[in-house]
Amino acid sequence: MPDDQEIHRGLEGVIVSESKVGSVDGLKGRLIYRGYDIETLVKNSTYEEVSFLLVNGELPNKGQFSEFLKVMNDGIKLPEKLVSFIDRYAGYSHPMADLRSAVSVLGSEEHESSDLTPDQQKDIGLSIIAKMPAIVAAIKRKWEGKNIVPPKSGLSYAQNFLYMTNGSEPSRDEAKVMDTCLIIHADHGSNASTFSSLVTISTLSDMCSAVTSGISTLKGPLHGGANEMALKMIKKIGTPDNADKAIGDMLARKDKVMGFGHRVYKVYDPRAKILKEFARSITSKSGKQNLFDTAEAIEKAMISRMGDRGIFPNVDFYSGMVYESIGFPENMFTPIFAASRSSGWVARSFEYVKDNRLFRPRTKYTGEVGPREYIPMDRR
Ligand code: ACO
Repeated sequence: MPDDQEIHRGLEGVIVSESKVGSVDGLKGRLIYRGYDIETLVKNSTYEEVSFLLVNGELPNKGQFSEFLKVMNDGIKLPEKLVSFIDRYAGYSHPMADLRSAVSVLGSEEHESSDLTPDQQKDIGLSIIAKMPAIVAAIKRKWEGKNIVPPKSGLSYAQNFLYMTNGSEPSRDEAKVMDTCLIIHADHGSNASTFSSLVTISTLSDMCSAVTSGISTLKGPLHGGANEMALKMIKKIGTPDNADKAIGDMLARKDKVMGFGHRVYKVYDPRAKILKEFARSITSKSGKQNLFDTAEAIEKAMISRMGDRGIFPNVDFYSGMVYESIGFPENMFTPIFAASRSSGWVARSFEYVKDNRLFRPRTKYTGEVGPREYIPMDRR
């Protein structure tokens, strides 16, 4: 095969598969899951219902939903060996590294098997979605040197996430904030981590491996890792008055301003719009108005310089201050994102493997063609 075809660096603009799970309209600033706008789902739904929708294709009726909740509630408990693993190994590296290792351990513990049908893979996927908050919360507790809190029955996914994280039941408002964050991060087209999951499942590997690939890819600062970096940057800039100069200097140095820009969105990210309003109201109640004002001044400085190039705040810009307000330290922001995105990884991997085609692109070889003479080591 010739190697002289056009190269699409970073697969920009390349359509690699079909999907009915969800779609991003980068010019209209619209994100849909199975045809529902995220604003509609945030207003009316819950993360559990959205997970059902993403994985199964339709919103559940009452019977289907109570069956699904049972699966989620049964699935949330972590195997003893995984709890021991977290207890022993978590807390030394970045929590995303702990999360990646923990989900991998889960695969060895429970799901190591080849030859599974897509439906069996889906069941495993649901069990992973159910366990993600328990894993993330356990890692967070371990990081803080506190005891791991087991889940409490009767709580929603978002409530239990916060309960296991903070050791006490959240208020209604806190649970709503958490639930909204989970909904809006659940799926996002052919993003890097989802693509990574699909590549893994396309080899007919297993669902735990697909989710582990997703976590590994989400970790990077150009993807999910940007939320932590964005809040650090906002805090470092410190006050609204510093924002314009700080952003001007960063752009002059050609530094990336974390939490801005997107491969697909060339207008304001609809998730950032939702998070910005949460951030505004939360910081005004908690006395952290300066943090929000600084962020808004950074936004203004960025849009005035980069808006005409389609660079606006993305989901990662305002999420950090929202997560912080419900008890998460900066290094836990990306793990929360991963817990939510597990629904998208599972839904899309399940969809893909039902009509599987191995991902195997090509690269253009630009090295020596040879044939070169082999020189023994002592003569090199
Ligand atoms: N800050 C400064 N300049 C930027 C930014 C930014 N955040 N984003 C893009 N640009 C500039 C680039 O420097 C480049 O300029 P040049 O043409 O003068 O060299 C141009 O815009 C195009 O940027 P690319 O990085 O090539 O565009 P790409 O489509 O790959 O960008 C990306 C997408 C990687 C997200 C980029 O905007 C970025 O690095 N943003 C910061 C990291 C971030 O917030 N990531 C989270 C994205 S959302 C998510 O994954 C959940």
